[in-house]
Amino acid sequence: MSKLQSMTELVGPGDKSVSAFDVEQVRADFPILSREVYGKPLIFLDSGASAQKPRVVIDCIREAYESYYSNVHRGAHHLSQRATDAYEEARVIIARFMNAPSENNIVITSSVTESINLVAATWGRKFLEEGDEVVVSEMEHHANIVPWQMLREEKGIVLKVAPICDDGSFHLEDFEACLSSRTKLVAITEVSNVLGTRVPIKKLIKIAHDHGAKVLVDGAQGIVHQGVDVQDLDVDLYGWTGHKLYGPSGVGILYGKADILDSMPPYQGGGDMIAKVTFEKTTYQDPPYRFEAGTPPIVQAIGLAAAVKYVEELGMGNIAAHEHGILAYAHQQLADIEGYHEVGTVPDKAAIISFLVDGLHPFDVAAVLDRQGVATRVGQHCAEPLMDRMGIEGTVRASFGLYNNRTDVDALVAAIRKAKEMLS
Ligand code: ALA
Repeated sequence: MSKLQSMTELVGPGDKSVSAFDVEQVRADFPILSREVYGKPLIFLDSGASAQKPRVVIDCIREAYESYYSNVHRGAHHLSQRATDAYEEARVIIARFMNAPSENNIVITSSVTESINLVAATWGRKFLEEGDEVVVSEMEHHANIVPWQMLREEKGIVLKVAPICDDGSFHLEDFEACLSSRTKLVAITEVSNVLGTRVPIKKLIKIAHDHGAKVLVDGAQGIVHQGVDVQDLDVDLYGWTGHKLYGPSGVGILYGKADILDSMPPYQGGGDMIAKVTFEKTTYQDPPYRFEAGTPPIVQAIGLAAAVKYVEELGMGNIAAHEHGILAYAHQQLADIEGYHEVGTVPDKAAIISFLVDGLHPFDVAAVLDRQGVATRVGQHCAEPLMDRMGIEGTVRASFGLYNNRTDVDALVAAIRKAKEMLS
């Protein structure tokens, strides 16, 4: 089986194209990539934090503000109808991208952080009781730890942590050993934002369901590298964010199975989430509107739909195969640097490289890289418990996107060598 075929298997129905992927043509779609930083070409290796935006997304946002911007679901005028149509069309496009059964499974939030907090504050508050267990993993982002700790303080739930191995691998046997008859929810990342480790989500979901637990997946880093098919996964709840998928910031998604969303009480109270309000009693809308109080991220959602269409056109399988190739090339080139160590070395990881250089502080390394035009993230990456688990203070992280090429890798390698020269 070719690499492209095997990577294509990872992706969901958002994959429409099997045509050749021309990274140089793709790069031309991203205006920011032609700028310089400190007089050097920008080498953008921080897409795991937030990805850059293609022109089609920027144009779509500009067009929305310039030609039909208005509030949605409220106005009795032409612009409001137009904005409402575009906002609701975005929900349909996003539902199709995730292979959700209906657009009513798609709640539009402000971020994946809000998506997770929404589940904790509604489903969690309603269905979890003292002693009930929520299982997370050692490699969670703070956004998938802290909401459960807040619920633990409020309700006395138990937070259990599935271990990972020293190489960053995640084993289903170790995970299953954490489950008990009190496990009500597994809240787990699909891809570690630090290690790049892919969790075998489909098998994990089956195991969790066999134990009677629901599963919430933090797909923030997963969906951008491999797409998602929520029906194939049989996942109960799946959150992700727009800005890492080449869309605007300020918009996130929560997918939920219909019966689960139906069972959840409202999150925030306000306009648009109500059916009828009197001072005595208020009734609420059905999902997804029940969870979208107030003016939603209108243009952000419309921009996200443009980003979804963009990646669909490129083909999620092509993107996955391209990133796989860049990661393999990076591994090859970085291996020659003396004193270079990668943190998280699972072979089939996503295109995220966290590393350290012997004797050098990661912040110093990242500062030298920056001066060479190479943008990385440095520190704990909002995953302090993972740093404690690995016995390190932090790493430099190079995270790759669909627009990175071999020149970017070569620049990273040269900049690390420069850092060694300057700092040793
Ligand atoms: N969660 C984002 C990251 O990993 C911000 O950098």
